[in-house]
Order: sequence, then C-alpha cells, then structure tokens
Amino acid sequence: MEILRHVVLLVHLTGFAILFGAWVVELVSGRRQVTRLMSWGLAIAAVAGLALAAPWGIEYDLNYTKIGVKFVILLAIGALLGIGTGRQRKTGSLPPAIFWSVGILTFANAAIAVLWR
Ligand code: HEM
Repeated sequence: MEILRHVVLLVHLTGFAILFGAWVVELVSGRRQVTRLMSWGLAIAAVAGLALAAPWGIEYDLNYTKIGVKFVILLAIGALLGIGTGRQRKTGSLPPAIFWSVGILTFANAAIAVLWR
C-alpha cells in the first residue's frame, strides 16, 4: 500500500512538473500563452492529488485544511486556464494577469505542499 501511495505521489509530481514546465517554456520563449499541456498537467495533478487526499497507505493524519486550500487553488488555476484559452481563441492574445496568475498559483500550491507541515 505504501509503495502504491508513493507511485501515486510520483504521478502527482509529474502533473505538477508538466504544468509548471509548460508555463516556464511560455515565459522564457516570450509567447506567454496558456497551452493544452498546462491543462493536461493540471488534470494529472488533480486526479492524483484527490487520490492522495484519502488516508490510505499512511500512519499519520492528513492536514485537511492544507489539502482544502490546495484544492481551491487548483480550481482557480483551472478557471484561469479555461478563461485564458477562450480569450486566446477570440482575441489571439492573453491578458498578462492571467498568464502570471497561472504560474504564481502553481508555484504557491507546490510551496504550500512542501512548506506547510
Ligand atoms: C497545481 C496543483 C498542485 C500542485 C502544484 C501540488 C504539488 C504537490 C507537491 C510538490 C507535493 C509533494 C510534497 C511532499 O511530499 O512533501 C504534493 C503532495 C500532496 N498533494 Fe498536491 N499539488 C497540487 C494539487 C493537489 C490537490 C488538488 C490535492 C488534493 C485535493 C493535493 C493533495 C496532495 C496530498 C494529499 C499530498 C501529500 C501526499 C502524502 O504526504 O502522502 N494536491 N503536492
């Protein structure tokens, strides 16, 4: 059970890496758009995160306040990706506030995961 939980955690981290990596590529290339890869990363992190939110394969209590905050932030990122995709389709460009919010909120969720004990 414990090893399976670690595998799910690895999948969760892969989702985070895809989402944040795709965002950094857009930042460095100067394109600064939201991409399908970001949505895939978010979906992977969400599914694995929800599986990890259930208390199996561990002997300690989960911090449900922290998990709740992470879930709300994940929903906000999902909304921004949805709104951003729509804007790009209609106008061909993305408001910088949406682009930056996606990256900052993703980084914030990773920081909360690691620093909030
Ligand atoms: C963009 C969204 C997310 C990011 C960037 C993210 C990031 C991370 C990172 C970096 C860790 C590893 C922390 C560590 O092991 O010390 C982690 C663990 C975890 N995440 Fe997330 N996460 C996200 C969304 C979620 C969501 C939506 C949930 C649940 C609703 C969730 C539940 C968990 C749980 C329960 C763990 C700990 C696993 C354990 O200790 O067994 N995460 N997350």
